[in-house]
Amino acid sequence: MFNNKKIFTLIVGGLLWLPQFALAAQVNILSERQEFLLRPFLDVFEEQTGIKVNVAYLKKGSLERLKQQPGSVDALLTVDISNLTAIADAGLFQPINSTVINQNVPANYRDPNDLWTALTARARVIYYSRARVKTSELSTYEALGKSGSKQRVCTRSGYHKYNVALISSMIAEHGSATAKSWLQGLKNNRGRKPSGNDRGQVKAIFQGQCDVALGNTYYMGKMLEREDQRPWAAAVGIYFPNQADRGTHMNISGGAVTKAAKNAAEAVKLLEFLSGNLAQYMYAQVNHEYPVKAGIGYSGIVQGFGGGQDGVKKGVFKQDQRNLAEIGRHRKQAIKILDEVNFDN
Ligand SMILES: [Fe+2]
Repeated sequence: MFNNKKIFTLIVGGLLWLPQFALAAQVNILSERQEFLLRPFLDVFEEQTGIKVNVAYLKKGSLERLKQQPGSVDALLTVDISNLTAIADAGLFQPINSTVINQNVPANYRDPNDLWTALTARARVIYYSRARVKTSELSTYEALGKSGSKQRVCTRSGYHKYNVALISSMIAEHGSATAKSWLQGLKNNRGRKPSGNDRGQVKAIFQGQCDVALGNTYYMGKMLEREDQRPWAAAVGIYFPNQADRGTHMNISGGAVTKAAKNAAEAVKLLEFLSGNLAQYMYAQVNHEYPVKAGIGYSGIVQGFGGGQDGVKKGVFKQDQRNLAEIGRHRKQAIKILDEVNFDN
């Protein structure tokens, strides 16, 4: 038989049990970032907040997933500006409204309507052959497309989101017609047809197929960490273009809260955490990216970038301050001029 004490224990036990299981806080995220990069941050977040993070990893097709299964995702994490702007344009995000994020992330790295925020930044730089190119022969993205340029250029597909963003920034700066002539010039100056990824272009410099290539900064860190790719990295230096004018083109990894989010408050908490000191420091050290929050140190490798270049000390360079939202707006026009110059063929 139950006595009073047993009944009391059952009631109290039940009350304690309820919030933990029936109401356990959680957040469902869709991540274009790879698991090995993200999971260490999420473990800390879960421990600090008690909010469980369920992650679906997806390399492509975030827009389609959010359209087809809107309620299944609270937050999206991307590795590029294009998807953020495309999904914001499709009306699938809600404003973030966080003073923490507004303090941590500079305005040019946030959507003017607060629909997404950057979490890290990466520069799209010129990788140059240490054997064949002097830094005094380099200057701007524009110069890579000039006729008569001595430097053979390698790029991955023009349609890759990193190049689409760079071309979009050229359209934002110069207008579509000038950007198109530049793109044609870049094609004329190339050492080979676009193929492979950013690291593959550095390998092509190492193998002598080209003298310069476009690539994101953190790949230098990744190549140096792999024995088989270290010789590629050793064959090149990093040059930050456009230091005398608008600065080097930056891209971002970012995050957003979906319009259909069932756990919007938890999603905002996660983005706040990712914009904070600990996550920013971890991103900078582990993935050799640029923190978006001021005052967070760069990794040792990143501090060495641009070492052979006038005006670049401890890896500090002039960044293009244009709002990424404006660059995102030109992505369709970028695809159009890529088609028109038949860039990949
Ligand atoms: Fe990448």
